[in-house]
Amino acid sequence: MNPADTSDLWWRTAVFYCLDVETFQDSDGDGSGDFAGLARRMDDLAALGITCIWLMPFQPTPDLDDGYDITDFYGVASRLGDLGRVVETIRVAHDRGIRVVMDLVVNHTSDRHPWFIAARRSKNSRYRDYYVWRDHPPRKQQPTVFPGEEASTWELDERTGQYYLHSFYRHQPDLNLGNPEVRAEIARIIGFWLKLGIDGFRVDAVPFLITAPGSPNEKDPHAFLRELHRFVGRREGSAMLLGEVGLPHDQQLDYFGTAAPELDLQFDFVTAQSAFLCFARGEAEPLARALASRPEVDVSQGWAMFLRNHDELSLELLADDEKQEVFDAFAPEEDQRVYGRGIIRRLAPMLDGDPRRLRLAYSLLFSLPGAPTLFYGEEIGMGELDTSLRREAVRGPMQWDAGRNGGFSTAPASRLKRPVATGGYAPEHINVHDQSRDPDSLWTFISGLTSRYRSTPEIAWGRLSVLDAGDPRVLAHESATDEVAFLAVHNFSAEAVTVALPGWGAGRDVTVLLDSSSNTAPDAAAPDEEGRLRLDGYGFRWLKSVPPSSVPG
Ligand code: NOJ
Repeated sequence: MNPADTSDLWWRTAVFYCLDVETFQDSDGDGSGDFAGLARRMDDLAALGITCIWLMPFQPTPDLDDGYDITDFYGVASRLGDLGRVVETIRVAHDRGIRVVMDLVVNHTSDRHPWFIAARRSKNSRYRDYYVWRDHPPRKQQPTVFPGEEASTWELDERTGQYYLHSFYRHQPDLNLGNPEVRAEIARIIGFWLKLGIDGFRVDAVPFLITAPGSPNEKDPHAFLRELHRFVGRREGSAMLLGEVGLPHDQQLDYFGTAAPELDLQFDFVTAQSAFLCFARGEAEPLARALASRPEVDVSQGWAMFLRNHDELSLELLADDEKQEVFDAFAPEEDQRVYGRGIIRRLAPMLDGDPRRLRLAYSLLFSLPGAPTLFYGEEIGMGELDTSLRREAVRGPMQWDAGRNGGFSTAPASRLKRPVATGGYAPEHINVHDQSRDPDSLWTFISGLTSRYRSTPEIAWGRLSVLDAGDPRVLAHESATDEVAFLAVHNFSAEAVTVALPGWGAGRDVTVLLDSSSNTAPDAAAPDEEGRLRLDGYGFRWLKSVPPSSVPG
């Protein structure tokens, strides 16, 4: 595809960076991160090479689900700043060529949202039908997302004697998206943030949005997402919708839209979970299988790749025995697991802080087709906090330098919402200041990856195929356009291997783009005449082949 035709599809080649303003940078010493702090850190993010920030929820909230429980969709939590600061921060980001998307959390509100307060006052409230009510909880209920914390998805409202639906916590009543007035409210919310300069939305909990039981929506469940996409496109042609759809690939296809476009991008949960199975086994087959099950989507649509995010590393798309393998490898302690499905750890400690394995993991993240998404702190290999914090264990303060509170805040430590990491992952060992000056650090490696990724558009635009490298420990995948072929080879095992890709690059000009071993001589890094490639334990290599240059005269 001609790059000129694709330049408006910026999300296909974005490098996303998810952060929570609250834990990123405190500018006024009150112990909470804020928008002014984020704006000040924009140059650090530009230096890392990311191209789009994803802001976790920053609106007013009782904060019982880390902000995913909103009381005012048009506001800003006062400890984080105000609308003026948000607009300034977006301007500062845009000035550096960085886009800004935000969480769109409209499956539910907080139970302290004025709509719900009014709705539960009386059955006749004009807001009653903004939520989903039943006289009795249905006999067949969807299982709760938080087993052990919630027993049901229906809660009795004592005053009016009816039950309301809450797919998540009981303090998060589901909005009734079958109600046209609710859909109009959501459109206004989207329109508002687009006018302030937001470039798109990470749509929270998408499958829940379209399955509210009993709503008129049930007849054509995807109508809402189609409507959402049309509306966003009408208001701002370059804005995009990135959806959280934690389902198998074949079911994700429906969320890209069959009748008309719905989501532009979706996180690839299957591939992410399979990557962890590969890390656990030292073998490539799970990823090869996952990539083979990825459906073809329209050119304007695609995948967002990630390894870790702000939630638990859910393993629910793996088979039970596979899930157990990953648990055994990376969450041997019971308190590192939640809800019987996920791991509340960051990547670096899961991989024992081993630089070879971390680099392998991030090389994979950036080489697989799909916009790579980093969770703040991954670029320096931050660790998790005490797992008694449950899901919040992975949401500690960003570690900028070795100083007080890791440079996050000048407030006394007792005023921080979450403690600063201690031990081997404490800021004196792991911080941006030191790593960004160290040519051998993870930060430097990842900033190299962002720049390689950005100058290798074939990764995103090429046709994906998994090649047979003749060794179960090695994944070889190619993204090819008509002219250029990009090849990435990753060895998941600790042993050095020699793989064979006979014919790859034959008769073409081959360049090595990235090599895990800085000791490999450049001519030894490319495949030899028989297509053989040697990789160190946990080694990887990126290659590019183009038609041979014409030799003058
Ligand atoms: C998905 C978010 O990622 C998670 O953190 C949150 O708890 C639920 N949605 C509910 O909003």
